[in-house]
Amino acid sequence: MRIVVIGGTGLIGSKLVTKLGEHGHEAVAASPNSGVDTLTGEGLAEVLTGASVVVDVSNSPSFADADVMAFFETSTRNLLAAEAVAGITHHVALSVVGTERLPESGYFRAKVVQEQLIKNSGIPYSIVHATQFFEFVKSITDAATDGTTVRLAPVLFQPIAADDVATTVGRVAVGTPLNGVVEVAGPELTRFDEFVRDALLARNDPREVVADEHARYFGAELSERSLVPGDGAIVTATRFSDWLKQSTAG
Ligand SMILES: NC(=O)c1ccc[n+]([C@@H]2O[C@H](COP(=O)([O-])OP(=O)(O)OC[C@H]3O[C@@H](n4cnc5c(N)ncnc54)[C@H](OP(=O)(O)O)[C@@H]3O)[C@@H](O)[C@H]2O)c1
Repeated sequence: MRIVVIGGTGLIGSKLVTKLGEHGHEAVAASPNSGVDTLTGEGLAEVLTGASVVVDVSNSPSFADADVMAFFETSTRNLLAAEAVAGITHHVALSVVGTERLPESGYFRAKVVQEQLIKNSGIPYSIVHATQFFEFVKSITDAATDGTTVRLAPVLFQPIAADDVATTVGRVAVGTPLNGVVEVAGPELTRFDEFVRDALLARNDPREVVADEHARYFGAELSERSLVPGDGAIVTATRFSDWLKQSTAG
């Protein structure tokens, strides 16, 4: 099966292209680096020729509210229009657990628009909602840092290894379209502030984590269950401590 991975050079995309290739699929990484730009439409018709599945794991280069909205709205419109012409039979997209619960956030408003365009496109689709990647926790921490203090809401948190996300997205991509959303999360339910405190300790990072229920995440205040999936989510195997050992060893 020829599967085009939009954002195939990114964190999830590069892992996904490798995994699909190992399973005998023709996985094509498509991104501006390989001459495919979903914002302008450049290279889209060519790369989709002969493909049956498209997986969109791209991300906006800028997270400013207007930029991220322009990115997901324009790129998704261009991509779906090109897919309709190419006869794509399954569109898969990666989004975030709780996207619909965080309308205060410009990033999550843009992801909602992306998902609505997919649902209304008429193309069979699957949307995978993942929790926060272990690999992303450093960026979250840096964004929440003021001097030597990290302010985070003490809400439930169930992060996941990017490798497990890629495995899940790959399985969904080669399966029957869900025409719905599936959630995926890591194996441990903790608290956001406690998780980051432990992660900093493990790296001998001296920053102090302060629990602040009004601390914002991507511009949104969080409630107890904003970031955690509901019943029926796929729960993956890799624990943070094991991932940390592997990434330190690497
Ligand atoms: N971070 C998290 O914790 C988290 C949790 C759940 C879901 N997600 C979702 O996961 C998805 C992927 O995230 P990631 O961290 O793997 O992304 P990433 O590493 O930042 O990679 C982004 C990819 O998008 C590509 N891209 C940028 N502009 C493009 C354009 N105009 N046309 C085509 N491709 C373009 C980049 O290509 P170049 O390399 O050529 O620039 C790159 O391959 C995102 O949609 C995000 O919402 C993230």
